Amino acid sequence: MPSDQNVRIAPAEGKLGVLIPGTGAVTTTFIAGLEAFKRDLGKPIGSLTQLGTVRLGKRTEGRSPAIKDFVPLANMSDLEIGCWDIYEDNAYDAAVKAGVLEMGLLDQVKEPMSAIRPMKAVFDQNFVKKINGPNIKSGGTKMDYAEMVMDDIRQFQKRTGVARTTMIWCGSTEVFHEAAKVHATLKDFECGLHHDDPEISPSQIYAYAALKSGVSYANGAPHLTCDTPALLELARDMNLPVSGKDYKSGQTFMKTLIAPGLKSRLLGLNGWFSTNILGNRDGEVLDDPGSFRSKEVTKSSALEHILQGDLYPDLYKEFYHKVRIEYYPPRGDAKEGWDNIDIFGWLGYPMQIKINFLCRDSILAAPLVLDIVLFMDLAQRAGMRGIQEWLSFYFKGPMHAPEVYPEHDIFIQLMKLKNTLRWMRGEELITHLGLEYYD
Ligand SMILES: NC(=O)c1ccc[n+]([C@@H]2O[C@H](COP(=O)([O-])OP(=O)(O)OC[C@H]3O[C@@H](n4cnc5c(N)ncnc54)[C@H](O)[C@@H]3O)[C@@H](O)[C@H]2O)c1
Repeated sequence: MPSDQNVRIAPAEGKLGVLIPGTGAVTTTFIAGLEAFKRDLGKPIGSLTQLGTVRLGKRTEGRSPAIKDFVPLANMSDLEIGCWDIYEDNAYDAAVKAGVLEMGLLDQVKEPMSAIRPMKAVFDQNFVKKINGPNIKSGGTKMDYAEMVMDDIRQFQKRTGVARTTMIWCGSTEVFHEAAKVHATLKDFECGLHHDDPEISPSQIYAYAALKSGVSYANGAPHLTCDTPALLELARDMNLPVSGKDYKSGQTFMKTLIAPGLKSRLLGLNGWFSTNILGNRDGEVLDDPGSFRSKEVTKSSALEHILQGDLYPDLYKEFYHKVRIEYYPPRGDAKEGWDNIDIFGWLGYPMQIKINFLCRDSILAAPLVLDIVLFMDLAQRAGMRGIQEWLSFYFKGPMHAPEVYPEHDIFIQLMKLKNTLRWMRGEELITHLGLEYYD
């Protein structure tokens, strides 16, 4: 039986505010889901927090509670959503335009979704090239914009009466930038905000405003945002959790399922070619080479880290890895991904695997948004601060401490997540040794 709770976790009392920059396909599919569940119009398929269990103790004990009964999570019905976007469409209109969900469902949740109107966005076309819209803040320095977002957060909290708040980025992918001098320390960053440093992106302004307001921050896109010393310093100072980057929903999810399997059987890899077609607004933004480069980086790193060519030079030293995304409007959100995997076995004999994943981007991403916000809130109530590596399970480019490599293997990630929950509750960690059954 549990020794005791390892960590003091404040109860999940009151409502949880979820603030989302970006009111596009993923956000509106997430919100429509929350409203649909309240009306019993569907189930939160794909959500570990809602449908997952966690085994405790020995296999003979038969203890496998639901995760949501094991750790104190906010209820889905206690979430209050606030959003920003560069377009003025309310969440219902944005969902209709995104074209992910059928009108039959959307019309049943029209009233609450129409009431969610995006706040004016912090936007800079140097960071997202392919779109522009009227609903943006203007007339200030980057520090002024951060203060405007802090004001938005205060107004939202006052209006909704939420007890706690978390922020999660579901906005467009910003163009690829490495951390610059302005990201070295919090002092440099604040100075850069005052002086409109061109290396500070809109997502970093939201993240700064969130952390300054005592709000945790998760990044669903591949760009840097909090993955810089300056914002990590702020998260630590404020005792706040951060996590990211880039939801692991479609092709990379498949990749991190298959690659550990090949490695487990010591099958070699000559090459892995991945391509996608998608036609939603995300696809349009990613049609810009700068935004695509951000994606390419998070999409490309998984294989190298899982296969560990240095440890297995005969199998994985030289493989060729290519990732492509093609914008193809007729498909909308119904993405199609192809993977051609050239592997080799005994005596080097070649074989091939083909994957054709006909998926729905936002249907896969929405449950990840739900889980991330509930776990980020849990982490904050448990006093956990800085990078939440145990949430790597959800991300294509997991944030990690500088001295370790990122863990991409989805099975290790899941074990890490569940062991973190066990650890929080003072339960024995599961090693899968199991010798005791044969004593
Ligand atoms: N499966 C998935 O759908 C998936 C997987 C991994 C990552 N992502 C990432 O999640 C994000 C959202 O995806 P989506 O399909 O909903 O895209 P989307 O284009 O439908 O929505 C993004 C919204 O963000 C808005 N936006 C852009 N810049 C903004 C800013 N500075 N402030 C506020 N709003 C801003 C856009 O106007 C747009 O409405 C993208 O970055 C995408 O790359 C999605």
